Amino acid sequence: MSLNHYQEDFLGIDRFFQEAVYHDETDLNAASTVEVEMYEHDCMYPAFAAIARESGYPEIGAMFDAIAREEGEHAELVRHLYQDLAVTDTPQTLEAKRLVTEIHAQMEVVANDPRGLRRALETALEVESIESEKTYPAFVTLARQQGKEEVARVFEEIVQSETRHATWVRRALASLPAHV
Ligand SMILES: [Fe+2]
Ligand SMILES: [Fe+2]
Repeated sequence: MSLNHYQEDFLGIDRFFQEAVYHDETDLNAASTVEVEMYEHDCMYPAFAAIARESGYPEIGAMFDAIAREEGEHAELVRHLYQDLAVTDTPQTLEAKRLVTEIHAQMEVVANDPRGLRRALETALEVESIESEKTYPAFVTLARQQGKEEVARVFEEIVQSETRHATWVRRALASLPAHV
């Protein structure tokens, strides 16, 4: 069996992030941040950790667990700033959750496919790079333009954390044997 059946769906996860909506309201950016971070915390990184363990790479599984934990902390940091924030699922997050369910359902195929773990890592690198280089720096700039220094500082902190995640994932990718 090969990854081809669901290859496109797996990639759908980063499509979700590439299409992330930029608002000119920091409050709306905060809501979408909480939604994305909770999705990463609850769905995406736990699925990737399971793929790593099933594929025989428990240390990469532990790395994904650590990232999942910190994504939950990012959601908390933003929630703390916006106590009354209403966070609702968008069609994009619902679709991303469906894709993760599909990956879970096909876990055996993913784990047995030599490229399964590599695809998970590549997807993670894509997501972490977009967040650390584009999305959150843009939120920092906007918050500062709107005179919301406290919000800008929180997003700066998140940029640093996402940059670290990208470094960890890049290192894990480099450590994979060529056949994986
Ligand atoms: Fe995050
Ligand atoms: Fe991250």
